[in-house]
Amino acid sequence: MEENTMQHGKLIVIDGMDGSGKGTQIKFLQEKLKERGVIFTREPGGTPKAEEIRKLLLSGENKSTPLADFLLFWASRAIHIEQTIIPALGSGMHVISDRFDSATYAFQICGEKRPELLDSFLYCRSSIMEKVVPDAYIFLDLPAKVAFDRRNKDAQQEKSRFDLKPIAYHNRVRRGFATFPPKGAVSSAVHIVDSNRPPEEVFNEILKIVQKELGF
Ligand code: TMP
Repeated sequence: MEENTMQHGKLIVIDGMDGSGKGTQIKFLQEKLKERGVIFTREPGGTPKAEEIRKLLLSGENKSTPLADFLLFWASRAIHIEQTIIPALGSGMHVISDRFDSATYAFQICGEKRPELLDSFLYCRSSIMEKVVPDAYIFLDLPAKVAFDRRNKDAQQEKSRFDLKPIAYHNRVRRGFATFPPKGAVSSAVHIVDSNRPPEEVFNEILKIVQKELGF
């Protein structure tokens, strides 16, 4: 990106445990911000190639390993950043991403209990995310058991193989979001929003944060 020659948009990440209500909140935001020049994107995914990696990652068909998952999430992120996020921010658009590196930290490092991946995480973060550190992260927080029950109630929602992990795993994921960013990572604003409330109430809080971050 060339400095000073164009307006730069802002990048906001919305993330949280499976069953945190993130999908509903993002739909509300899309509706509210549709005329404000905000691009909504998601991880894993956000470009045709990264969506291919998403299918590979979420399918439970063949066995993977935590390290292979970690690398695939970063591979899809590298494409997403280069092909979607940098061009959008460079043209002055704001971007809201449904998940980002916070999910890799919470799921692959904390959920999977792989602290030895932290150095690689910090390296990937500083190289792949060199040009795009999010301006803010919004984490939807609620007890793992409540999230688990919500997911099971929602028969329409497709379950990924991460969804199907036990509650103890999701408790670790929750703690991962609560301790993000890890020591050694460039920090951003982090907003933890209690999502164990009616969706409209949660949305009011999220909208205020987003409007403040984007200057609306
Ligand atoms: P989604 O259901 O919110 O679209 O996310 C897909 C699944 O991928 C979800 O179970 C969380 C998981 N995930 C990771 O484990 N690590 C990551 O880095 C990302 C982006 C998602």
